[in-house]
Amino acid sequence: MRAVTCRRYGPPDVLRIEDLPRPVPAARELRVRVAATTVTSGDARIRGFRCPAIFWLPMRLVLGLRGPRRPVTGMEFAGVVDAVGDAVTRFSPGDRVFGLAAAGAHAEWLVVAEDSAVAPAPAGLSDFEAAALPFGGLSALIFLRDVAKVKQGERVLVIGAAGAVGASAVQLARHLGAEVAAVCGAGNINLVRSLGATVAHDRAAWDSGQEEGRYDVILDAAGAAGPASVRRALAPRGRHVLLSFGVAGMAWMMLTALWPGRRVICGFAGGGAADLRFLRDLAEAGTLLPVIDRVLPLEAVVEAHRHVDSGRKRGALVLTVGAGRPA
Ligand SMILES: NC(=O)c1ccc[n+]([C@@H]2O[C@H](COP(=O)([O-])OP(=O)(O)OC[C@H]3O[C@@H](n4cnc5c(N)ncnc54)[C@H](OP(=O)(O)O)[C@@H]3O)[C@@H](O)[C@H]2O)c1
Repeated sequence: MRAVTCRRYGPPDVLRIEDLPRPVPAARELRVRVAATTVTSGDARIRGFRCPAIFWLPMRLVLGLRGPRRPVTGMEFAGVVDAVGDAVTRFSPGDRVFGLAAAGAHAEWLVVAEDSAVAPAPAGLSDFEAAALPFGGLSALIFLRDVAKVKQGERVLVIGAAGAVGASAVQLARHLGAEVAAVCGAGNINLVRSLGATVAHDRAAWDSGQEEGRYDVILDAAGAAGPASVRRALAPRGRHVLLSFGVAGMAWMMLTALWPGRRVICGFAGGGAADLRFLRDLAEAGTLLPVIDRVLPLEAVVEAHRHVDSGRKRGALVLTVGAGRPA
């Protein structure tokens, strides 16, 4: 099968398309014939091994010392189950599925565990659209619902609202009953307003100092706002959630946990099949719309990584694998 591999960390052109054996599912695994996948900010981070210095050694030990231990890249996928292991009970060949894997989705076939983040794909969405949902959707859901614990009527500010996480966060914060404001590039203001932001600020002109005490939750999906710079925009018990962080962010988190008041929270998103089913239901109801920057063939993976590295991606960058279902 054709698969994209990363055998050493580096710039986009370390990626190769290789012919590899088709994977065989174990007893509790299913094999998916991938129709669409994406290049996420997470894929680009792993390929370039971009991580805060404090995580360098643990991340190398986990991911692989000179290059990823699992060389086939890719996390998000949508496609059709074409084989299942003997002990699989919840999926059958022919099922349309979507999900988020640790690696391996940039390939014609992908094997995932039955109890991992895989679920029936949303009816009415193309494979392109289904593949665009899990990474941003799960991250936004976990950070807003479980980490920040957004409540009905709260004011939420999403920074980086046009990216994969931000575009989902705007929609999910609205779904959780919040009033949503956004910060994004000038060219994306109409997009984020169409997703449900009541106010969208051009990031070049936005001044957090003008919004003292305004937000119950600030979700920074752009790594753009240091805790000191937006602290005054938080309400007295507001939560500032950092998706990209280093030692300084962790120090802020520890310090602000010591007494009641404004909190800084850093963390890593997880999310499983139940969360994916939650997103699927919202997508089927039209409450969560996939945002797609562009669709490229798998063979254009180097170009795709360059675009993600630019930091200007809007929503998801989709790669087609084989024919896919029409968008
Ligand atoms: N901790 C975790 O578990 C976790 C999980 C998922 C993602 N992340 C991190 O979260 C971040 C966002 O991920 P993503 O997948 O959404 O990225 P993405 O799709 O590549 O989006 C990046 C977006 O950020 C916006 N942006 C860039 N600089 C900005 C600035 N100064 N102010 C406001 N917006 C800015 C860009 O939009 P404009 O052109 O409109 O500015 C772009 O749309 C990444 O750093 C990723 O590594 C962390």
